[in-house]
Amino acid sequence: MQFNLFEEPTPNDEFKSHEELINHMHQLTDDPLHSTGNRMVIYRGNPNADLMIVGEAPGANEDQQGKPYVGRSGKLLDKILESVGFDSQNGVYVTNTAFRRPSDTNRDPSQEELDYYLPYLKEIIRIVDPKILLLTGRFSMRQIIGEKRGITKVRGTWYTLDDGRLAMPVFHPAYLLRNPSRKPGSPKALMWQDVQEVRRKYDELGGGREFLLPHAR
Ligand code: URA
Repeated sequence: MQFNLFEEPTPNDEFKSHEELINHMHQLTDDPLHSTGNRMVIYRGNPNADLMIVGEAPGANEDQQGKPYVGRSGKLLDKILESVGFDSQNGVYVTNTAFRRPSDTNRDPSQEELDYYLPYLKEIIRIVDPKILLLTGRFSMRQIIGEKRGITKVRGTWYTLDDGRLAMPVFHPAYLLRNPSRKPGSPKALMWQDVQEVRRKYDELGGGREFLLPHAR
């Protein structure tokens, strides 16, 4: 399936490097979540990675530590990535669709808020230039591949962005924490299937071996 994330030039298609982009984002004051007083939480991991994970929005732990996916969901995400050989700390790039915690009540980010941050997310994708995007949950799925159907219907499907990049929506780890069964057909079992396919495709596309755990290279 083909989507047009990159059809229009990004408004701030001007950053020369990852460092420049991240520094710029840290100085934003006109973003819709600035008034929350919460900090910019942009990424963790390796800006040279071939696999990028795009989540939803930072929560309390992420706001405290200034890094995405460092709470319970993040720990599970790391385990899932490691189960198929990815180095979850230094071999992947982890980011979100909204870059500040929406509020102290953990509400979902609004469409308007997500749309404000989208050009920045596009710049992150352009500059980091991963071979594969793993979209955890419905917000990144809607923003990046324009998919409005439920995640249960489309998870595990490959989408091709208009720049040729591949993206796969998968369950959000928080959903897996709420559904711990591992029976065949359960969300956890499906996630296991999906990440195995991601690893297979990563190898097929020549993803960097240096980003894998030593035993998985
Ligand atoms: N959930 C997300 O989607 N992102 C985070 O950074 C943390 C939890």
